[in-house]
Amino acid sequence: MSLLVLEGLSKQFGGLAAVNNCNLCIEAGEIHALIGPNGAGKTTLINLIAGMLPPSRGQLRFQGENITHLPAHQRVHRGLARTFQITNLFKNYTVRTNLELAVQARAGSSFRFWQPVAREKHLTEAALAVAEQVGLAGRFERVVGQLSHGEQRQLEVGLALASRPRLLLLDEPMAGLGAEESERMVALIAQLAQHHTILLVEHDMGAVFRLARRISVLVYGQVIASGSPAEIRANPEVHKAYLGDEGGAK
Ligand SMILES: Nc1ncnc2c1ncn2[C@@H]1O[C@H](COP(=O)(O)OP(=O)(O)OP(=O)(O)O)[C@@H](O)[C@H]1O
Ligand SMILES: [Mg+2]
Repeated sequence: MSLLVLEGLSKQFGGLAAVNNCNLCIEAGEIHALIGPNGAGKTTLINLIAGMLPPSRGQLRFQGENITHLPAHQRVHRGLARTFQITNLFKNYTVRTNLELAVQARAGSSFRFWQPVAREKHLTEAALAVAEQVGLAGRFERVVGQLSHGEQRQLEVGLALASRPRLLLLDEPMAGLGAEESERMVALIAQLAQHHTILLVEHDMGAVFRLARRISVLVYGQVIASGSPAEIRANPEVHKAYLGDEGGAK
């Protein structure tokens, strides 16, 4: 059984079909990349999966359950987490506080059973474990605004990881990163893929073709191709619509 199944999923903004009758399966354990030109509907699709937008038509099944009408926070509890294309951090607070808040959001009301001191210790330990996962343990007490752009992107991934997701939705994690920072992010995603299924939206084709086991191509809201990196690289439709002379050749 696929981890996530999209069936005839559509999102209409007025006269614009931003996502148009999408059928897509995400298999447990894979890195599945979603690529396509600007405005193709990739972020809208992530928003539909995460529950930030209701679909106009179609349905979503996660681990066999129909989640089409489930609110976003309940999807998080089922194991879905996303990052944002534009960073979404509390910049005046430390890495520690950002992560503690995210861990607390996951734990929800279960925290009321803890004594305050034990609660704090538990929170800090959980936050530090996530910081270690994303390579920020050494920056734990730093104010986020003082981190490099790359480190802020790593922290974004950490916020999503704090909810202990089964499926991680990453919306352009390499956006704005330099070469070295991108390398670090590629290594981080490869490492996370050992324990998570990942849907990766990304314009960096070098990273996509190195990381993804499968790639789907979205153009004008429609999935025009889905397959292995080799199949996508060899697909003339994909070249015409998106890859052109650049991406696939890398
Ligand atoms: N809330 C909204 N209301 C109206 N139109 C929207 C809304 N959100 C997105 N759109 C439109 O839907 C289309 C798809 O946008 P979306 O952000 O999903 O594209 P994208 O593939 O993520 O692009 P990019 O690669 O630039 O991030 C665009 O034409 C966009 O202008
Ligand atoms: Mg986008």
